[in-house]
Amino acid sequence: MEFSIKQTSPEKARSACVVLGVYEGGILTPSAQVFDKSAAHQLSKLITRGDLTGKTGSTVMLHNLSKIESERVLLVGLGKQDELNAKQFLDIVRATFAALHKTICKDATLFLTDLTVQDRDETWKINQIVLLAAESIYRTDSLKSKPADKPALRKIVLGCTKKPGNSAQTAVIQASAIAHGMKLAKDLGNLPGNICTPTYLAEQAQKMAESHKLRATILEEKDMEKLGMHSLLSVTRGSRQPAKLITLEYRGGEKKQKPVVLVGKGLTFDSGGISLKPGGEMDEMKYDMCGAASVLGTMLAIAEMKLPINVVAVIPSSENMPDGAASKPGDIVTSMAGLTIEILNTDAEGRLILCDALTYAARFEPDTVVDIATLTGACVIALGGVASGLFSNQEQLARDLLAAGDYANDKAWQLPLWEEYQSQLDSNFADLQNIGGRAAGSVTAACFLSRFTKDYRWAHLDIAGTAWKSGKDKGSTGRPVPLLAQYLINRCAK
Ligand code: BES
Ligand code: MN
Ligand code: ZN
Repeated sequence: MEFSIKQTSPEKARSACVVLGVYEGGILTPSAQVFDKSAAHQLSKLITRGDLTGKTGSTVMLHNLSKIESERVLLVGLGKQDELNAKQFLDIVRATFAALHKTICKDATLFLTDLTVQDRDETWKINQIVLLAAESIYRTDSLKSKPADKPALRKIVLGCTKKPGNSAQTAVIQASAIAHGMKLAKDLGNLPGNICTPTYLAEQAQKMAESHKLRATILEEKDMEKLGMHSLLSVTRGSRQPAKLITLEYRGGEKKQKPVVLVGKGLTFDSGGISLKPGGEMDEMKYDMCGAASVLGTMLAIAEMKLPINVVAVIPSSENMPDGAASKPGDIVTSMAGLTIEILNTDAEGRLILCDALTYAARFEPDTVVDIATLTGACVIALGGVASGLFSNQEQLARDLLAAGDYANDKAWQLPLWEEYQSQLDSNFADLQNIGGRAAGSVTAACFLSRFTKDYRWAHLDIAGTAWKSGKDKGSTGRPVPLLAQYLINRCAK
């Protein structure tokens, strides 16, 4: 989909469809008023007749109005004028695209960026319109023998009554980049485990490196062996697919600027291993690489935006399968950091691959490390699909990530990493064990990771509840690409 922003008059816009807003009580937005005047008050007449209520998200499509350049006009209800908040704006934009997709329109000009939305700026409105447009055309049927027809809508113009400034133009470019990153993250997440293997993820990273001038390095199992990554390797023992440790480097900042390292859990299928998961919904464990997918999506987005920042992606990728060679409950392994780990449950494998990747991350001399992982079912119970769980060993970093998530409509919520929880990981036989009991499952998982991140500023995002949707709308969400991209954009602005 193609996006642009420009100054135009709604009645003169040559477009398959012009989209205008109407508040409750039949109050027209300034652009709609201008349009109405040129159209011999045809909108006002509809209002008087009662055909146009302005209820939030209601739509009315009109065709071939006289004295108007566009073929159609879509009127969208905006609700009460003084109550237009962020959530309502998103509902309005969603309703707009739903209505546009019912037509054969190939392009549309939207007069929605001029609306006043409580506590939100122009950049935010542009961002959300672009992301919701991209969301509305996303399809998951590429592996069906007869995929449905592609939506007709190709081109979106954001119409403004005033000339848009540089920041608005930048917002369009950045939002499109984020949309591309989200699409990549969704596509990778939705692919089945028999296609999206660690090898496949490594190939995707290499492709992106070639097309976007990044540096990709793929470590094989023998390389990991030499580095002493026995915790990571213990997870892949039961799999026929070779594990990979993928790194992708984007150097957009000054040479001496320390990078942000993003570490993404890339479990391309998590059966639980010998601690086998129950069968119901086990297919959804193909999504256990969504952390990795969000890191790749974010790398694509920042490369497209050409952000002046250094970012390194580190992606440990493997399967977790039961097999004669698989790790067993009670096995003890030595991590790259030298800490010994008693594997009491082979299904707590994410932390086992992440701990070695987090130790490895230190070689990039990071300013900040953020790991992103579908780490615990407990996080789904705690926060559901609304917010990702956030943990950090530094308050300012936590605040920055929370703020980025709030702004990007990709929320996170902080959970504690208090010392009191650490003893749940005490083992009689090793330096620590890989599970801490049922209580505070997301916290003890984060505590486990914190043992390996003492040397740098670090945050952990548990995206188990937010990375994909289950049920009828099953599919990857592309989260938390918006949060991560926004965090990096904000860092550049500082
Ligand atoms: N990938 C899962 C976490 C998960 C489960 C995410 C369900 C989304 C939905 C992870 O590897 C896992 O299995 N975690 C265990 C940890 C437990 C054994 C301590 C869990 O949450 O049950
Ligand atoms: Mn697991
Ligand atoms: Zn897992």
